[in-house]
Amino acid sequence: MRICTVVGARPQFVKAAAVSPALRAAGIEEIIVHTGQHYDAALSQVFFDELGIPPPYQNLTVGSGSHARQTGLIMERLEAFLNEEPDFDAVLLYGDTNSTLAGALVAAKKWIPIAHVEAGIRSFNRTMPEEVNRVVADCLSRWLLAPTQVAVDNLAAEGLERGTTLVGDVMLDATRMFAERAQQQSPLRSVTAHAPDTYGLCTVHRPSNTDVPGCLESIFSALGQLPWPIVLPMHPRTRARMGPVQVPGNVEIVAPVPYLTMLTLISGARCVLTDSGGLQKEAYWLGVPCVTLRIDTEWPQTLAHGWNRLAGADRKAIVRAALSAPSGARRPLGEAPGGGTASESIANVLLQSK
Ligand code: UD1
Repeated sequence: MRICTVVGARPQFVKAAAVSPALRAAGIEEIIVHTGQHYDAALSQVFFDELGIPPPYQNLTVGSGSHARQTGLIMERLEAFLNEEPDFDAVLLYGDTNSTLAGALVAAKKWIPIAHVEAGIRSFNRTMPEEVNRVVADCLSRWLLAPTQVAVDNLAAEGLERGTTLVGDVMLDATRMFAERAQQQSPLRSVTAHAPDTYGLCTVHRPSNTDVPGCLESIFSALGQLPWPIVLPMHPRTRARMGPVQVPGNVEIVAPVPYLTMLTLISGARCVLTDSGGLQKEAYWLGVPCVTLRIDTEWPQTLAHGWNRLAGADRKAIVRAALSAPSGARRPLGEAPGGGTASESIANVLLQSK
């Protein structure tokens, strides 16, 4: 079996780091195409180097742009690539970025079956670009590789049960694969002087926070009211939007960090505050309370027993949620479906139903 995997943004590199070895082990030939959606070394190359992901066969170097421009450019260049390199049995896509959407549209029109990893995830908020990307990718996919029962149920509710398999969460595979190595290779002292359990960790990059007037002000004001130092690796979009936003004295802004460093930072934090989907889950799996800087989540299972709380960009809600987060004992690591073997299951599903 010969497949073309399309990746483009940070979280997709992490997912590929878990899935690519499983595909290889199953005897599947994989060609990786990088769309170039993320191009800064800190958001791209560092992940390939650190996680041992096979180098991309081709980089489409699309760079940044409006949604239409970025998606259109990926489509045009991916179509040209697939014209030159025929004979793929499948195109494999991860998650919900513009690279996912473009990959789905091109593969569908070239009649190449699509395998969608993280199928069925929904926030039910179509103002989120990622929600649009997921819905379209799922509609066009032959293999709907769902991470959770909630995702399976969402697909069934949309009439997409045919092709759906509950494989588990590949990000859990990655967390399990790399958590120990993270502690050894990226110890906390290499990132911050703060001791474990004494600091909060914050990331914020979604347009709903960076591009809506007042949201960044409100979030930073909330961070300033927390009784801990806050380490904040800053996404380039957020940096570009900061303008006159006041950074409180307890907030330590650092450059975007590689994956292993992020796992170390999460593990040592007493609370994670984020608008990222992936970080909500990683905090949950690593037993750390999370405050989600959004009004909805596509990972509702993390909300159980207050381990993740939705606060949006509301200053009071953020402070309240962070201060009332469970503390002291860490959440015991729960069993998630797939139990860290989602990648193997994906390889098996692809081979069995080729
Ligand atoms: C994208 C995904 C989002 C994912 C995130 C992970 C979409 C719609 N969104 O968001 O789901 O959570 O990746 O990080 O696909 N930029 C740089 N250097 C880079 C890349 C981007 O400076 O290497 C800046 C540019 O100003 C760009 C902005 O970041 O305009 C946003 O980048 P983009 O790829 O459009 O989306 P993300 O916010 O990174």
